[in-house]
Amino acid sequence: MRPGRAQASLLNGLVRELPCGLLDRCILDGDGGKLAKDRLRDRVKQRGVLITLEGIDGTGKTTQARRLATYLRQRGYAVALTREPGGTPLGERIRAVLLAGRPAQVSPLAELLLMYAARAEHLEQVIQPALARGEIVVSDRFNDASLAYQGYGRRLSPGVVSALDRLVCRSTQPDLTILLDLDPHTSLRRAESRGKRRHGHGGRFEAEGLQFQRRVRSGYLAIARRNPRRVRVVKAGRTVAEVQAEIRRIVDEFLAGVGQRAGIRRR
Ligand code: TYD
Repeated sequence: MRPGRAQASLLNGLVRELPCGLLDRCILDGDGGKLAKDRLRDRVKQRGVLITLEGIDGTGKTTQARRLATYLRQRGYAVALTREPGGTPLGERIRAVLLAGRPAQVSPLAELLLMYAARAEHLEQVIQPALARGEIVVSDRFNDASLAYQGYGRRLSPGVVSALDRLVCRSTQPDLTILLDLDPHTSLRRAESRGKRRHGHGGRFEAEGLQFQRRVRSGYLAIARRNPRRVRVVKAGRTVAEVQAEIRRIVDEFLAGVGQRAGIRRR
């Protein structure tokens, strides 16, 4: 076979073996050629899968992420449960800075750069090593949050967010994303009372108000429409147990489809 043909057939083989999230991303990015091939090569080194939970503030992601991790461990999987911003010592410090300030104290671009600084560290120290070990990484927020909050919420250009994403995340994209969807009125009420309970005041992003949360929600829903195979929308205005049951159904179905091929490790 000529080198070009051999390469194409190797790539086709890899593409068939890949979890769906990455493939969507390669196609969506439209970056073709060398970058796409580099990403494919990086990705096959990662045997695990990355599952992310997203949603506006007050949708109950953290509770659902914890319960999902417990469930997967009970099923015998090796699971790394983590969160953003945070997940590493530097990331937690960045989180503290970002969540403590008042609205408009940090410029949108600085906020985006800080999110990606925390993410770079998180990828290198936590996510990529866990994926290389074949674990299921469950992350309470990841890169869709930057597009939804800094892109749609703060109105930064989506091109700027995706340029940073290509630089920092490269091939490490979510394989499955659970988007917890809730009407912003309800979510804000929940988030505010939770914020007051924890810190005596609501968080900085909660303090942005209803219009901001509406823009973020519409951003998340737009991301879901563009990535229907990767992003699954789950209605969050139900009991914790009902929401968790639906998440488990989605994750079970996903793991049955790609689990074996992705090389996921059992404990
Ligand atoms: P959140 O994850 O909701 O934490 P908690 O449930 O403990 O309050 O809070 C993190 C906040 O950071 C949330 O309001 C969304 C925001 N955020 C961004 O704006 N961009 C990002 O890229 C990420 C990961 C989070």
